[in-house]
Amino acid sequence: MATRKEYRIKLVSKEFLNSDTCYLGFNCPEIASSAIPGQFVNISAGTVFLKRPFGIASVDIENGIFYIGVKVVGKGTSEISGFETGMDVDCLGPLGNGFDFEGFENIILTGGGTGVFPINFAYETLTAQGKKVTVCEGFRNASQVILNKPAYILTTDCGDTGIKGTVIAGLDTISINDPEKTLVCCVGPIPMMKAVGTWASEKGLKCLVSMEQRMACGAGICLCCTVKVKDDGPDGYKNVRCCKEGPVFDSREVVW
Ligand SMILES: Cc1cc2nc3c(=O)[nH]c(=O)nc-3n(C[C@H](O)[C@H](O)[C@H](O)COP(=O)(O)OP(=O)(O)OC[C@H]3O[C@@H](n4cnc5c(N)ncnc54)[C@H](O)[C@@H]3O)c2cc1C
Ligand code: FES
Repeated sequence: MATRKEYRIKLVSKEFLNSDTCYLGFNCPEIASSAIPGQFVNISAGTVFLKRPFGIASVDIENGIFYIGVKVVGKGTSEISGFETGMDVDCLGPLGNGFDFEGFENIILTGGGTGVFPINFAYETLTAQGKKVTVCEGFRNASQVILNKPAYILTTDCGDTGIKGTVIAGLDTISINDPEKTLVCCVGPIPMMKAVGTWASEKGLKCLVSMEQRMACGAGICLCCTVKVKDDGPDGYKNVRCCKEGPVFDSREVVW
């Protein structure tokens, strides 16, 4: 497991992927070389008090850079998207458990919304390891499509590009030959992860989901990021910390 540390890091690249989403590269050789897919960083958000969590979208180990994608939804993300290259920011990371691909030969990666950022890191890592990877991503419409590659299965709600429908319509086009060796990893909105978990379960596949609860400390202290997971106790569930025990959970364990 990678260590967690606090760093003052420099923003070295910035590009807008569409009108409200930017892609930022930070110089931090420690995070670039130790992060695994599914882990996240907490980035200071200008004048906003608490750092904000973002899934790691890619790493360039040679040049010591890691990347995140930021969709503007409020004050923190608005300030971060306004950062200028060359400025220094405070960062905590890498945080969380990340995906465990051990024992699986075929990996199906599926994402929607800002979930495509951690999915991108998983894709780059697994293809570099020579694993068989299939990617299916879903967006609302063509204007929302980001980080897409020709090899990916693409779906849009309105069908103006790719397959019309949710990612389930895309996943249904994949032939599963060896369920025991096939793992599904999903990052996206809750209804999407729940639906993908059900789809995987019907096919006899293990499915890992990355929960994006609202967070404060990111370090397991404040208990504001809890996720309910199944438990044998009297309540049938227990609360665990998304930032510490997660953000990646087995979809069958999550109390949706
Ligand atoms: C583990 C993890 C990984 C994440 N990865 C990414 C990523 O790669 N790219 C990205 O753009 N965002 C990601 N997020 C979400 C991102 O952290 C929030 O959008 C951000 O914290 C909002 O800050 P703000 O100050 O702009 O918005 P706020 O003013 O705090 O909130 C604005 C709106 O955003 C909603 N919101 C805030 N946090 C979340 C959340 N965690 N999930 C859903 N809605 C939220 C609020 O309910 C509110 O409606 C991730 C979150 C987590 C927990
Ligand atoms: S954000 Fe504080 S415990 Fe998870």
